[in-house]
Amino acid sequence: MMRQAGRSLPEYMKLKEGYKFTELVQDPNLAAEVTLQPIRRFGYDAAVIFSDILVISEAMGAKYELLDKGGVEVDFALNSKADVDRLNPKHVLDHIGYTPEAIKVTRKELGDKRAIIGFAGSPWTLASFMVEGGSSRENLRSRAALHDEPKLFFTLLDKITEATIVYVKAQIEAGADVIQIFDSQGGTLAPNLFWRYSGLWIQKIIDAIGGKVPTIVFARNVHHNWKQVVQTGGNVLGIDWSIDLREVANTLPADVGVQGNLDPALLMAQPEPAAAEAARICETMRGRNGFIFNLGHGVPPEADIATIQAVADTVQGFE
Ligand code: CP3
Repeated sequence: MMRQAGRSLPEYMKLKEGYKFTELVQDPNLAAEVTLQPIRRFGYDAAVIFSDILVISEAMGAKYELLDKGGVEVDFALNSKADVDRLNPKHVLDHIGYTPEAIKVTRKELGDKRAIIGFAGSPWTLASFMVEGGSSRENLRSRAALHDEPKLFFTLLDKITEATIVYVKAQIEAGADVIQIFDSQGGTLAPNLFWRYSGLWIQKIIDAIGGKVPTIVFARNVHHNWKQVVQTGGNVLGIDWSIDLREVANTLPADVGVQGNLDPALLMAQPEPAAAEAARICETMRGRNGFIFNLGHGVPPEADIATIQAVADTVQGFE
């Protein structure tokens, strides 16, 4: 599941009394501990390493923080060529080597029976956070900026891609079994722009990984563009909850896996309807090779523990 850890777990809230989010991310032992919390409780097959996509922004010189009122904030919103010039993709691991380190610690604790999922944001999704200066629903500034200054925008995407390649390679080196790329903002791009501003840059990262480990590409709300998401070379596509999983799967090449797509809101409902929906999804995917059950997006902080447990039991017991 993506965003396994976090505020839905009492043990996470307990740990967070003593630390800020970024402090947990930056300490390999604490990050490994948070990574393991949902695995201990629910026994998932794979552990998503505890970090954030915005560490790449930090690595290039624009730090980020979580806001108490919700959302994230980046140190400086990119407003000019000078701001983009300030970003330095050359010393990534000096800044964010803590995540590969956390993977090593996690591996020691987890053994070899369960997979570790490393991850990074897509260059477009990261660029939009950096241009907006934080969370933004519509990405209006970014969507305007790419038309006003396409060259500058490509320079930004290029820098993010360079940094990300170093970062994901270090995660693989440290023991990540899979790399997932989150293009959570992919669906904000118009269809004719998706490839040039998002897909292409994801493809560059996947090319650089060179098949060393399998890759998962989660691109949210890109219904018009599955072909282009496939073109990135990702081995598995992560699908959000707003589309029928089986229908998408039927249009994809047989060797491309699918991951998804329970509506995360169901984790805030009673255990019964959530379990029933999880079973329905598994049933519709019966016989499709390469299916990974997951949520259609991250675990909401208000998720009910008993409901998560019921979903996990249903999927783990599905025959
Ligand atoms: O715990 C895990 O499973 C690790 C995974 C993880 C986190 N962030 C930790 C996190 C992953 C895969 C991410 C990716 C991420 N971060 C994305 C892409 C996926 C997605 O969810 O769309 C994005 C867009 C971000 C940026 C980000 N980080 C936002 C917008 C927020 C939310 C702020 C809020 O108000 O909830 C975060 C915070 C964050 N990252 C949390 C976690 C566990 C919540 C932490 C907390 O509340 O203490």
